[in-house]
Amino acid sequence: MKITFRDTLEGVGPDQLGGRFFDGWPNPPSTPTFLKLLEQSYAVELAVDEDTGNVVGFIQAISDGVLSAYIPLLEVLPEYQGKGIGTDLIKRMFNRLSGLYMIDLLCDAELQPFYEKQGMHKASGMVIRHYQNQSGAANS
Ligand SMILES: CC(C)(COP(=O)(O)OP(=O)(O)OC[C@H]1O[C@@H](n2cnc3c(N)ncnc32)[C@H](O)[C@@H]1OP(=O)(O)O)[C@@H](O)C(=O)NCCC(=O)NCCS
Repeated sequence: MKITFRDTLEGVGPDQLGGRFFDGWPNPPSTPTFLKLLEQSYAVELAVDEDTGNVVGFIQAISDGVLSAYIPLLEVLPEYQGKGIGTDLIKRMFNRLSGLYMIDLLCDAELQPFYEKQGMHKASGMVIRHYQNQSGAANS
């Protein structure tokens, strides 16, 4: 298995995004909606399995490009997890965002040690979730 990393969606279409991302989401985005949210991001980093040409992991950042960035999604397909791909995606994204002041994300407590290894600190936060909009269909 040869995994390469890319910082662009060039050459990536729905056919390369067909893996079972959004694992565990009751109402996940469709593949075209997935592509759209990547396209409309401030920055994306992709992990590609060169044997298949398919995207097997991704990280997305949204930002004002001045002070702040937020990382909504990071995911590696289950069969590719535990091989360092997630760590590489974060490192690459943090490098891209290193000129900004704030880089924030939310995660389950069990993943906090994973992010602490990348220099992040625990914080508290507040959220709203409109679950009826989880698929993003109304905005695609
Ligand atoms: C979190 C995730 C991106 C990590 O990707 P990965 O390619 O497996 O990561 P790596 O191989 O670089 O590192 C794995 C590390 O993450 C830890 N980890 C992964 N999932 C974990 C979990 N649910 N609970 C605790 N630790 C977890 C592993 O224990 C491992 O730690 P180690 O380096 O001390 O052994 C991947 O597990 C994933 O996609 N999970 C589902 C989606 C998700 O939770 N995304 C994060 C949203 S905040």
